[in-house]
Amino acid sequence: DKEGWPTFMEKEIHEQPAAIAATLAGRCDADGRLALDEVRIPEAILRGADKVVVVACGTAFYAGLVARYAIEHWCRIPVEVELASEFRYRDPVVTEKTLVVAISQSGETMDTIMAIRHAREQGAKVVAIVNTPGSTISRESDAVLLTHAGPEIAVASTKAFTAQITATYILGLYLAQIRGNKFSDEIQDYMDKLALVPDKVQRILDRAESVRQVARTMTGATSVIYLGRHVGYPVALEGALKLKELCYIHAEGFAAGELKHGPIALIDEGQPVIVVVPTPRRPELHRKVLSNIQEVRTRGARTIVVAEEGDSSVDAYSEVVFRIPPAPTLYLPLLDVVPLQLFACELAGAMGHDVDQPRNLAKSVTVE
Ligand code: F6R
Repeated sequence: DKEGWPTFMEKEIHEQPAAIAATLAGRCDADGRLALDEVRIPEAILRGADKVVVVACGTAFYAGLVARYAIEHWCRIPVEVELASEFRYRDPVVTEKTLVVAISQSGETMDTIMAIRHAREQGAKVVAIVNTPGSTISRESDAVLLTHAGPEIAVASTKAFTAQITATYILGLYLAQIRGNKFSDEIQDYMDKLALVPDKVQRILDRAESVRQVARTMTGATSVIYLGRHVGYPVALEGALKLKELCYIHAEGFAAGELKHGPIALIDEGQPVIVVVPTPRRPELHRKVLSNIQEVRTRGARTIVVAEEGDSSVDAYSEVVFRIPPAPTLYLPLLDVVPLQLFACELAGAMGHDVDQPRNLAKSVTVE
């Protein structure tokens, strides 16, 4: 039931505040400590883990790329993020001290299932972050952290992505708490700030019309470039994937710092470039992305920018700016991705495509 929305995808984009809130609910005990009863892996094993390896596909893989920034920062454990389809073929270094995190909306993705089987054969423990209780991945893992996004019907993933990021943050903070590092005193504070994210997502959704308007001017585009730096980089990758899937337009996400190492040769008059701008409160990141916008603008690009409310430094170089409420840097992907989802969804509709069932795609990929 689309509950009045024209497509399931629109409905699910708008369900993100609820999906994030539901994924956060009930994770703390009365003392404000994270209590993840479902993670039954003995604390000694979690404390002794010397590496985290995230395995996933597609959008879930990009959630893993986001998670790396948070888990490494909070836990000081090295985090690798690997495409599940590549993982077991490279003879990965996996031991009993490796904590594998498998991320999957459906819980039925064969590439991811094969990756966790391989990891467990090497003695690794697997935590699954899945949206589907009882799914194969949840049954074959040592522990399950459920995303409570509710069923996702549209083939292109939206609310599962933001719920997955939320779940990886809960896991990251839990590991920090168990391992007792300098962040263990700040866990409550990080959880409190995470709890503010759903309202911020809602604020972005309330301004969806400005995104829709720009999307409708893009029906003739044959290529769109996405740029991001730090946590904005995986957001750029995810934005590009949404455009490929829904609009059948060639799209590519780049780390903004890579621009000058090659991709800038692609820029000519009228090339659409969507830039995810870091918060000005991180000047070392912000300054560099701002100069990337200037570089592509000088070469005639159409620059569409996602930037924080009040960040006027981008105005002179942007055709349009989608505004994001301020939030801690690590939480920005939960906000930045929303206009990119809306953009792809609206453009696909304007091009006459089936938004919920793009061509050649299936909701769950049960073959390798
Ligand atoms: C993108 C998309 C796919 C899935 C991928 C993994 O919109 O839906 O890239 O993210 O096939 O699927 P799950 O999460 O079910 O393992």
